[in-house]
Amino acid sequence: MVAPLQIAIKKIQESQLSKVDFNNLEFGKYVSDHMVLVNYANKTWGNPEIIPYGDLLMSPAMLSIHYGQSIFEGMKAFKMQDGNINIFRLKKHHARMNKSLARMCMPEISESLFTETLHALVALDHKWVPSNEGSSLYIRPVVFATEARLGVKVSDLYKFIIMTTPVGPYFSKPYKLKVEDYYVRTAEGGTGFAKCAGNYGGAFYPTQVAKEEGFDQVLWTDHKDHQYIDEVGMMNVMFVINGKLITPALNTAILDGVTRDSILTLAKDMNFPTEERRIKLNELEKGFKDGSITEAFGAGTAAVVAPIQSIRIHGIDYTIPLPNENSFQSKVKKQLFEIRTGLTEDKHQWNHIIKIK
Ligand code: COI
Repeated sequence: MVAPLQIAIKKIQESQLSKVDFNNLEFGKYVSDHMVLVNYANKTWGNPEIIPYGDLLMSPAMLSIHYGQSIFEGMKAFKMQDGNINIFRLKKHHARMNKSLARMCMPEISESLFTETLHALVALDHKWVPSNEGSSLYIRPVVFATEARLGVKVSDLYKFIIMTTPVGPYFSKPYKLKVEDYYVRTAEGGTGFAKCAGNYGGAFYPTQVAKEEGFDQVLWTDHKDHQYIDEVGMMNVMFVINGKLITPALNTAILDGVTRDSILTLAKDMNFPTEERRIKLNELEKGFKDGSITEAFGAGTAAVVAPIQSIRIHGIDYTIPLPNENSFQSKVKKQLFEIRTGLTEDKHQWNHIIKIK
C-alpha cells in the first residue's frame, strides 16, 4: 500500500468566512481561507503545504509572465443532500490538467498529489461550500513557471497552487453571441485544447469589441476560413437540431470541456441522440430559418448549462427559443444537479465525496 501524502498544514489566524455574503456571490470575489502550495525543483514536485491564502513573493523575471508557461483548471465542489461535499469529476479534470501541462512543456502532476491535496484543502475549508441551489465552491488549480531568467527557455522551477472561491451562477441571463469571422482564438495545432492562460488573454480584445457592440461573448470559428464553429471560449456550445444534440467534434483548437462530456454521456443515458461533428455556419443559418434548431446553449464548469438567446451570423441576428421545463437543456441540467448533490445515483462514478462529521 502507498503511504498517504504528508501535507504540512498551517491554519489561518482569523477566518474570513464571516465577510462573505452568500446571497450575493459575485464569481471569484471571495477566496477561501487556505490554499495548496507545492514547489517544483530538481525535476521533482516537493512536499505539499496548505497555508493561509495570500500574496507570494516572486521575481519580476519569472518565466511565466514573460513567455506564458501558465495553465489552470476550473472545477467545482457541491454541498450534498446528506451534508457531505462532492468534488465533481476530479479524475477528468486531473487528466486534462496533465494534457495542458504536457502541451506547455511543464511537469505533470501525479493523481495522488492532485487528489490528496485537493481533498485536504476542501475538507479544511468545507464551511466555504455554499448550500443555495445553483451555488458551489469553484476550485482553481494553477501551475506556472517561477524560474527568474530573461532568456527564452523552458523553466526549471514551477509552483502548483489550488485556491477556491464560493460562487453562484456565472451568467444570470440568457446571452447574446456574435460569430467571430476575423479574429481567431487559436488554430489547429495550437493550444486551444489546453487550458493555458494565453488562450484567455488573446480572447479579451475581440470579446471586448463584441461587448461594445452589445453581445455577451463571441462564438469562435475555425482559423482557416471561418466556416465552422469551434467554441465560445468560456464554454463549449451545443445545439438541438431536428431532435438531436449536436456539438462540434473535439480537435486541437477546442477545449475538451468536462461539462460537455458529462452532457453527452447523460444524453446517451436518456436515449437522446447525439452527434459530435463539424458544424458549418450555413447549416446554422438554414436551421434558424427553417426552425429545425430548437435549442442552443453553452456548457462549461463555471457556466454549467447556459441558454443562448441569439447568435449573429454574417450580420443577421437569429433568435433562439428560450428553454422551458421540457427542453433537453433543462432536463440535463436537472440530472447534473441531482447527481452532484446525491439525489440520483452516480452511476459513472463522477463524485469524489468528502465526509463531513
Ligand atoms: C471554467 O468554466 O472553469 C472556465 O474556465 C471559465 C472561466 C471562469 C475561465
